[in-house]
Amino acid sequence: MKVAILASGNGSNFEALAQQFQAGLLAAELAFVFSDHHDAYVLERAKRLKVPFYSFEVKEFANKQAYEEALLALLEKEQIDLIVLAGYMRIIGKTLLAKFSNRIINIHPSLLPSFPGLHGIKDAFDYGVKVTGVTVHVVDDGVDTGPIIAQEPVMISPMDTLATLEEKIHQVEHRLYPNVLRKIINEKNQ
Ligand code: GAR
Repeated sequence: MKVAILASGNGSNFEALAQQFQAGLLAAELAFVFSDHHDAYVLERAKRLKVPFYSFEVKEFANKQAYEEALLALLEKEQIDLIVLAGYMRIIGKTLLAKFSNRIINIHPSLLPSFPGLHGIKDAFDYGVKVTGVTVHVVDDGVDTGPIIAQEPVMISPMDTLATLEEKIHQVEHRLYPNVLRKIINEKNQ
């Protein structure tokens, strides 16, 4: 079974997952990481961890459809079975969804369906909720929608700042995402 990770930015979730692949704790092959930004820090992490990586940007193509077709061609060439989104900040279009139906998973830093979108942690903090958390879900054609696979709550205390909340959320993500992925891989391998 071959897995590709898609990431747009920092890549801390990519690194948490890659470490587990490299330690033999995930029974699949991490084929590559892809970023839609050439200067994303996730690519530095990939170099350091010696994980193959690719990047290309939407602006290098005639339109979003052409970009996604190129990405699909790469995924098919590498015979990818499962796509893992880790801070990939683009909506997955029809082209990819049709070919990878039920084979794309995403992590989001809130208890969906609350606070979808690009700023899940800040939106929950600013709203003043006392409990937020992390969600892993199957990707459909919406923004942070699709069947929920796992959730874990994170309490927001009066002492928390946005920075401390971000830290707490990321710690949960780095533990939850590999554990959920392990279950998915083990089920698919059976
Ligand atoms: C993570 O918190 C992830 O849940 C979030 O982006 C961050 C990426 O961090 N994803 C979304 O908000 C998806 N809507 P990372 O680049 O350090 O892994």
